[in-house]
Amino acid sequence: MAGKMAIDFHNPKNKTSYSERKVDQSWKDMANRLVDINGKSIVDIGCGGGLYTKALMDMGAAKGIGVDFSLPSIETAEKTCVGIKNVTFQQGNALGTPFSEASFDVVLERALIHHIETMELPTCAKEAHRLLKPGGVCVWQDRTPEDVQQKASVEHLRGYLFEKYPALLAVDTRRRHLQETVLEALGSVDFSNIQSYTLWETRGVYANKEALKKSFLRREGRSILHELSDAELNEFTDYLLTKLNTLEEDHPLIDRDRWTIWVAQKPY
Ligand SMILES: C[S@@+](CC[C@H](N)C(=O)[O-])C[C@H]1O[C@@H](n2cnc3c(N)ncnc32)[C@H](O)[C@@H]1O
Repeated sequence: MAGKMAIDFHNPKNKTSYSERKVDQSWKDMANRLVDINGKSIVDIGCGGGLYTKALMDMGAAKGIGVDFSLPSIETAEKTCVGIKNVTFQQGNALGTPFSEASFDVVLERALIHHIETMELPTCAKEAHRLLKPGGVCVWQDRTPEDVQQKASVEHLRGYLFEKYPALLAVDTRRRHLQETVLEALGSVDFSNIQSYTLWETRGVYANKEALKKSFLRREGRSILHELSDAELNEFTDYLLTKLNTLEEDHPLIDRDRWTIWVAQKPY
């Protein structure tokens, strides 16, 4: 296993890693059930390629700002949202953003918190809380170790990665926060109504096995694949296609990942 190839978000080579797929309608439906987005001002922190900033704007947000500490990601996010009104992007750190207190109705931090050290998670929660208007809502989406350890199936392809390379499961589990740790961090600031939900998010629908293979080989939106060398990744895609052998050629390939969503409200 290559081991030391973790994704470098500041490397321009990785700038489209989080922008080359579409946000599935099921994510928008879920977000709409949890938070009223329409007419709201939102900040998407750790926005990556801006896919979810765009999704929130599509859902009717009145104003959006995407923040990421990686400049190449900001440039990609700007391209993702080109032509959309009232949305801007700027470089910043989730632990201390340049915005005034009570600036937003919604703070989204999707797939961000596993990049934050456990000891800094309360600071991340505190910053999200500071940015929210009274009544505003903070949404964190990430995987817990339990989410990561879900078994492989034809609808949970990431599981095959861990079947083939069990050491990667340990790597992925180690970088995820426990449910209790996240609840503790959110509970360490003055949030009310802290809830958590499970979401099987469709990350991709592929026309055929070749398209699926290409997506894996490009390491699209899957930072864990940066732990594998190109040769290992090739071996994995062959393994994956063997696992899908029993499926007919025209069987739709829908890849889902299990996530936990935490929602916390700033009291009025
Ligand atoms: C896994 S990507 C998720 C991107 C996007 N939110 C999504 O769900 O597609 C994580 C992003 O968080 C950014 N990031 C990591 N730590 C950060 C921090 N402390 N402050 C701001 N951005 C951060 C990375 O640069 C990267 O773009």
